[in-house]
Amino acid sequence: VNAAGERVFDLTAEEGTTEFTPGVATDTWGYNGSYLGPTLVAKRGDDVRINVGNDLDEATTVHWHGMNLPAEMDGGPHQTVEPGASWSPNFTIDQPAATLWYHPHPTEKTEHQVEMGLAGLFLLQDDEESALNLPRSYGVDDIPVVVQDRRFDDNGQFVTDVRGYIGPIGDQLLVNGTLAPYLDVTSDVVRLRLVNGSTARLYDFGFSDGRSFDLIATDGGLLREAAPMDGIRLSPGERAEILVKMTPGETVKLQSTPPDLGTSASAATRNAGDDTLDVMELRAADALSSIGATPTTLANIVPLDKADATTDRSFTLNGYTINNRLMDMTRIDETVEAGATEVWTVDNAMPLPHNFHVHAVQFQVLRVGTESPPAELSGWKDTIYLEPGVRYELIMQFAEYTDPNFPYMFHCHMLAHEDAGMMGQFVVV
Ligand code: C2O
Ligand code: CU
Ligand code: CU
Repeated sequence: VNAAGERVFDLTAEEGTTEFTPGVATDTWGYNGSYLGPTLVAKRGDDVRINVGNDLDEATTVHWHGMNLPAEMDGGPHQTVEPGASWSPNFTIDQPAATLWYHPHPTEKTEHQVEMGLAGLFLLQDDEESALNLPRSYGVDDIPVVVQDRRFDDNGQFVTDVRGYIGPIGDQLLVNGTLAPYLDVTSDVVRLRLVNGSTARLYDFGFSDGRSFDLIATDGGLLREAAPMDGIRLSPGERAEILVKMTPGETVKLQSTPPDLGTSASAATRNAGDDTLDVMELRAADALSSIGATPTTLANIVPLDKADATTDRSFTLNGYTINNRLMDMTRIDETVEAGATEVWTVDNAMPLPHNFHVHAVQFQVLRVGTESPPAELSGWKDTIYLEPGVRYELIMQFAEYTDPNFPYMFHCHMLAHEDAGMMGQFVVV
């Protein structure tokens, strides 16, 4: 905490090497290290300042994915940090406890920079979440699980030119930057913060013995109540917090089984929809500490009301365009009034996978096609998978931060698509 009362973090993007396999140095990038970056933690009400440095040979930006903040602090393509330069955004945390993340967002280079290893978690806390009986000892019973697929060549370097339609697809998983990880479990309940940190691949996370788990939070924070399930699909950029029960001495694997892409079988095959991958092995000790029962009520989420919406907008994703337009840094696509509640209807017009992410706001899902949203889409979201041919109706209330000069982004979070132009800009005025 500095003299101005700000909680200060330092993040410098740098090049390095990482030994994912002992004795094999892979060229990688990271923040304050060679791969990924530190987990930042802040509490609702905190004023934060992040001193961002760039020791790379190319320009970068750092975007706070899921954060409600002024547009100039957002770290999108307009907040470029040139090599050797620095940038120090500051903002006040004003949203519920959640698992957010940060990553680069430079024009046409986002996929490459994330692929090289630039990403990290930004965990938010608040009094409501802190008062609940939930595991929250970071690294002990509250575990980040940042999942990324990668492919290595014979020299142990990342191969980035093997692509499906959705972008580069790896055949091995790095979890928090580690191949084939395991976790020594010491409590009877473990909280896993699942983050799809991949540039393109979708996952359907579950356990090797089919056991069910409780979903407690999605992108923007806790659900109203824990939802038991045995699998959860996450597309790039989406997060989920789950609680899994363990018994003494047992071993079970967190896995990803073929996600339902909502496409034809052949499209699924071409888009890595057929793969079963081991994510992490959980190894329970012979004696486990007791966390106790999961609270039945988690968060008070007030439903946003369609009757309060002042504007409806529709977005159709097709090719690499949104509403038939490619990203243009000089064009503002949408102008939103500060504080407004809006309904955004989103369609994926292709028979292939896309998803949709909106900066600076958390939305609620009103309809998935003609249905009410399932449990995993019943809380706060900032990124959503778009099954082809299904119409998604989202409702969101924008904050009061106005800025006619700096826009926020909305885009497909399959990063090759974003880089190809599947992105638009909105200002809040
Ligand atoms: Cu996580 Cu605009 O991105
Ligand atoms: Cu974002
Ligand atoms: Cu896409």
